[in-house]
Amino acid sequence: MIAVQCFGLNGDFLNETIEAGLATTEEAFMYFNGRLSAVDRARIAVWLVRENSMPQNGRRGYLFRGSFMAGARQSIHGQWSSRWVFFLAATGSAVGLGNIWRFPYVTGENGGGAFVIIYLLCVAAVGIPIMMAETLIGRRGRQSPINTMRLLAEDEGVSSKWHYLGWMGVVAGFLILSFYSVVAGWSVAYIFYVGSGVFAQTTVEASAAQFTALTDSAWELLGWHTLFMIMTVVVIARGVQGGIEQAVKWLMPALFVLLLIVVGYAIATGDFSGAISYLFKPDFSEVTANSVLAALGQAFFSLSLGMGAIMIYGSYLPADASIPRTVVAVAVCDTVVALLAGLAIFPIVFAFGLEPNGGPGLVFVTLTIAFGHMPGGQIFGALFFVLLTVAAWTSAISILEPIVAWLIESSGWSRRRASVSAGLGAWVLGIGALLSFNYWAEFTLLGKTFFDWCEFLTTSVMLPAGGLLIAIFAGWRMSRASTMEELGLSDGAIYSTWRFLVQVVAPIGVLAIFVNVLVVFLRDLGVFD
Ligand code: TRP
Repeated sequence: MIAVQCFGLNGDFLNETIEAGLATTEEAFMYFNGRLSAVDRARIAVWLVRENSMPQNGRRGYLFRGSFMAGARQSIHGQWSSRWVFFLAATGSAVGLGNIWRFPYVTGENGGGAFVIIYLLCVAAVGIPIMMAETLIGRRGRQSPINTMRLLAEDEGVSSKWHYLGWMGVVAGFLILSFYSVVAGWSVAYIFYVGSGVFAQTTVEASAAQFTALTDSAWELLGWHTLFMIMTVVVIARGVQGGIEQAVKWLMPALFVLLLIVVGYAIATGDFSGAISYLFKPDFSEVTANSVLAALGQAFFSLSLGMGAIMIYGSYLPADASIPRTVVAVAVCDTVVALLAGLAIFPIVFAFGLEPNGGPGLVFVTLTIAFGHMPGGQIFGALFFVLLTVAAWTSAISILEPIVAWLIESSGWSRRRASVSAGLGAWVLGIGALLSFNYWAEFTLLGKTFFDWCEFLTTSVMLPAGGLLIAIFAGWRMSRASTMEELGLSDGAIYSTWRFLVQVVAPIGVLAIFVNVLVVFLRDLGVFD
């Protein structure tokens, strides 16, 4: 008689004694394959076969062990209908407020051209390889990031502590969504402002005053934040194919076309050469340790890396789709949109004598001036903010999805209940973020409000740290065979380059930037005097 134990994600959930003599791994494999559903197979990390007389000694002492081929796993949450949909969903996740709201103002705060070059380097050398790593980990595990990490650690025979990486992602997701939803709320508000015509022939002062009036009013912010969070929860609750896939299919291409129109206007009427030289003429004397960290953080934020969003989207990717090609396409689109946003905004900034370091209000103040003066600006402007809202929406969905998937897996809740609960949590945190602009504006720690801290802790600390760990896991803990299989690459130059980037370049790059910032910080505190 033989005892069989399967270790699933939450300990063993199949434990039985059978008559059949399973003598080899293959026989055991056939036995389980016939007996278990695809969903159960996906949940099983390892199975152990022992003699019945052997002590049931946890995971030790067995005749032989095995696991199902990772390629046979399926997600219980669903799958994209094609690789193209994954591309749209991942691009929908990547392209968002990070490109249109954050990239221009962070570029402005960090001096322009040199920052842009460092940013592009971060995307190419660190962002793209890590995005491939995150996607391949997701597809191999086919579960929420926490459970995927646990499963793959089990597959590869490494410490199960790796699943804490998934936990950090959950915390980061809540923090990001809290401030993200508030800013997305501004975008919703601006649909109505611009559409109502208040910006016709507006001045710099009037446009800035309108923005301040919005952020001063906690109740109005709360209304827009609530509306946006409900929109996000509604799509998530409808599921992967029924909700997310439908949402991204039409809206992404439309956003791109509108952005081109606004850029066209900015080129025709604004200070385009000023903008080009600001964005592309590097002045490296402006570069500090902090601006390098800002560039790295922006790369992670803009590509949605480091917290499991791309991992969960990867877990819905069909098995035969090529990860390297799709990921490169997503990263290129994301970067093009960010640069286009810069080319739309800086000509207006310079033409109207605004300061490039205008902070989080930059996009809202500058673009409304442009819309106020262009023919048909009322309609174009409203449409632009509709699309900015949509871009933010498809991103917010991806921030919430890993958390919701985990809630479903671990609690057995319906998708609906999990979505509402997670959304409620993020909504409460978001109240702290929106109060940072009015009632709590004075509450600062080291000069940062609650909003600033959420943004800083996630983009500059948790996302790079998460990316670092993902790179180490994919580069050093997973076997060459696993990653090669998942990437669909043979052992050639492309694979070697990727492996070198995740093993060496990405970890050292992230660590060096962290250490540098820490040293500067301590020096400023006077520790080295
Ligand atoms: N990338 C999105 C943007 O640029 C924001 C985003 C979506 C994100 N999912 C994420 C950021 C996951 C970090 C992690 O607006």
